[in-house]
Amino acid sequence: GPPTRWGGLPEVLALRRDYLGHLRHLQQRYGDVVHQRLLGLDDFCFFHPDHVRELLIAGHDGMIRWERATAVFADAHGQSVLVAEGPAWQRQRRLLQPGFSPQRVTGFVPLMVDAARRALERLPAAGVGSNEDRAEVLDFESLMTLLTMDVILRTLFSAGDGDAAVAETAWAVHELGKVAMGEMYVPVSAPLWAPWKRGKRRALRSLDGLIRGHLATRRAQARQGRPAPDDLLAMLMALRDERGEPLDDTALRDECMTTFLAGHETSAAALTWWGWCMAAHPDAQRHAADEVDAVLGGREPGAADLTRLPWLSLCIKETLRLYPPAPALFSRRTIQALDIAGLRLPRGAMLRLTPGLIQRDPRWFEEPEAFRPERFDPAAGHREIPRGAWMPFGAGPRVCLGSHFALMEITLVAAMVLQRYRLAPVPEAPAPEPVLNITLRPATPLRLRLMPR
Ligand code: HEM
Repeated sequence: GPPTRWGGLPEVLALRRDYLGHLRHLQQRYGDVVHQRLLGLDDFCFFHPDHVRELLIAGHDGMIRWERATAVFADAHGQSVLVAEGPAWQRQRRLLQPGFSPQRVTGFVPLMVDAARRALERLPAAGVGSNEDRAEVLDFESLMTLLTMDVILRTLFSAGDGDAAVAETAWAVHELGKVAMGEMYVPVSAPLWAPWKRGKRRALRSLDGLIRGHLATRRAQARQGRPAPDDLLAMLMALRDERGEPLDDTALRDECMTTFLAGHETSAAALTWWGWCMAAHPDAQRHAADEVDAVLGGREPGAADLTRLPWLSLCIKETLRLYPPAPALFSRRTIQALDIAGLRLPRGAMLRLTPGLIQRDPRWFEEPEAFRPERFDPAAGHREIPRGAWMPFGAGPRVCLGSHFALMEITLVAAMVLQRYRLAPVPEAPAPEPVLNITLRPATPLRLRLMPR
């Protein structure tokens, strides 16, 4: 195995300061497997796609998610599929999986398109032709965050919540994320009633109220015999476990919270970076816009169009390579000794797996820092990318439950943005710097120029 490095507080602080940067430094210095003893714990970093796949697939039963992260997430997510472990997780995953199958999520296309249209209609009416200088400069990240929030609220609850509700919800989500980043690197959190946790309490109350409100409305509708809309909540309420029992209210609330939070923050991050990639690469953008025009003309996209936009799909894939919303997955902890990558990992070891670094490794991607969607196109004669080198959704039994949902949503929204606008960078603005803020976000708000087409 690799030699053991001995570390302590300085290493932990370095990880906290710049998680991905410090791990990249370790890989460059010590190679594909790094073993450290950090504050008395065994800590392994894996940088080879084969090892990461082997761990996530073959090693699944011998690992749990790092407890500190799940503890922080549990405050909001309760015991949803995102947080649960062991048999409880397995039961929930098996129950939910069919509801997120490609076939099932295709049914949500009309709801998504409807939400995206409404959100895009709310944009300040630019109406300035394509005069470059008079383009609207917009905070594209906020725009995409509100848009994906609208999409998930409509897809989950068929809710046409007003702007006020969305703004309050956006605040609550932001507050939770901010607090979570701080909590993740301290060994224990103060209880929720601590006086300085007022913001977090209010944020949790707000999201909880939103979800319980929708649940209550739906139950009341059912009692009155009114037909339920065909949305994600209806899907969740129709689930039955092996004894034929539906989810109880707490379980429904938890799964709704996870679908809501996991289902829009990541998509918002992906769309934000997609916007940047398009703005920074006008040729790729023109190609995508031409494709959208050729396939859709002026009409709205439908499910059948999703496979007819190959260049746009490659652009999204390349965006997810350069800027994966969850670049470090969840770290894992071994719950038994594991034989992996020719090593014996002891029980209780911390495992760090970072697709975000693998996806920029020059061994798997020529010119890894460049935006080159065609690299994923074997038909164009490009060399095959090894399995596991592109892994923005993870792999194995705990792979993202919403990957089909997400790719569909991102493609629809991206096509609808391109139908309406040309994206360009703000002159003189530096390229945005990615930072890990629960999801991978630009360090400062990403502003782009939107020119009506
Ligand atoms: C888990 C990525 C969108 C629901 C995950 C994980 C990743 C991920 C990396 C963790 C895998 C691990 O720890 O091994 C992404 C990305 C998205 C996205 C990049 C968008 C671009 C969504 C959406 C939904 C969703 C739209 C729901 C509608 C979930 C759930 C889990 C999960 C429920 C937990 C699964 C489990 O623990 O069994 N996602 N996700 N995600 N994601 Fe996503």
